[in-house]
Amino acid sequence: MKEKKRSIPLESDDLKPIRSLHDLFQTAKGFYRSRILLVANRLNLFTILGEAKLGSQEISRRLNSDPRATRILLDALVAMGLLSKFKDVYAVRQLVKRYLSRGSSECKADLLGHYDYMWGNWLHLEEGVMGKPAPRVDLLSDPHINRTFINAMYILHNEQAVRYANLLNLKRVRKMMDLGGGGGSFSIAFTKKNPNLRSIIVDLPNTVRITEKIVKSQRLSSRITFQNVDFFNDSGWFCGDDFDLIFISYVLHCERPEKNRFLLRKAYNSLKPGGQILINDYPLSISRTKPAGSAIFTVNLFLSTEGGNTYTQEEIKSWLEETGFVKVDSLNSYLSTGFKRIDFKPKKY
Ligand SMILES: C[S@@+](CC[C@H](N)C(=O)[O-])C[C@H]1O[C@@H](n2cnc3c(N)ncnc32)[C@H](O)[C@@H]1O
Repeated sequence: MKEKKRSIPLESDDLKPIRSLHDLFQTAKGFYRSRILLVANRLNLFTILGEAKLGSQEISRRLNSDPRATRILLDALVAMGLLSKFKDVYAVRQLVKRYLSRGSSECKADLLGHYDYMWGNWLHLEEGVMGKPAPRVDLLSDPHINRTFINAMYILHNEQAVRYANLLNLKRVRKMMDLGGGGGSFSIAFTKKNPNLRSIIVDLPNTVRITEKIVKSQRLSSRITFQNVDFFNDSGWFCGDDFDLIFISYVLHCERPEKNRFLLRKAYNSLKPGGQILINDYPLSISRTKPAGSAIFTVNLFLSTEGGNTYTQEEIKSWLEETGFVKVDSLNSYLSTGFKRIDFKPKKY
């Protein structure tokens, strides 16, 4: 089945290869536009202008910023089509007001905020490649960075979660564990689809604090509950062994293989006989170069995690089989987005 065009690109989406001198240099200076957008978002400019049209002097006063630099930034934002300008008065365009102003119910500014934090890691790519120690933004410990990260995951994965809820057969699933469930996109979409389904999100306490609020806002607190667990530092954690489904989405790519094998063993032991595990993660060809988005995202994982990686379908399949899972299948025939996606549906007997 062909997926409809998504409005927010997933990390694995294919990217056009560089084929001309023009492409080469557009790519080289791609950070100009990215930085302008991310810094404007960081300064809350789109929220300030979402509330009122303002002159550059007034904006600078509100930001307590340098007036000349502020005007230069504002004019560049106009040039990029994000703001409009009449005489010296700036206003946000409708699209920006809808998606980047904090006053909007559809605000996605935290996803930009997350990319902005990632930029801090990308500055150290050279050190990383040269095998030198490079500082890393910790996505999990700092409460503000963690909140931005979890909100970003919620924004990024919501549309996919709803599509999966419609594509998967969840009718018989009564109890599911959402391992590293993050902002709860999948638990929310799945429980909305099946009113008899209850989900337990197993995640770190900082994340749980954020996701509890999201779940409450969706009026699902009675069917989505939480277990505070640090997978690798809480010894002997156990959430029960009667789950029909263990769902693991975008978690395996954060970790090195030994840790993933450990998580899969935990998952195996949490399933009731005949239960299923479903893994959703970015696809990667055996050559590790396709889709281009995944190969490039792997650099982000290298910079942002301790040993994380994008894995091929074959690698994950082998971990599942060595754990004891049987009937390991890929569901990509009907979740296909034009490239291979990793989705397994094995049974345990
Ligand atoms: C990339 S997010 C994926 C979130 C969600 N599954 C999704 O698809 O939107 C990874 C999740 O793993 C959680 N996580 C990372 N390390 C963890 C650990 N040691 N113990 C428990 N959860 C962890 C993070 O808090 C985060 O929610």
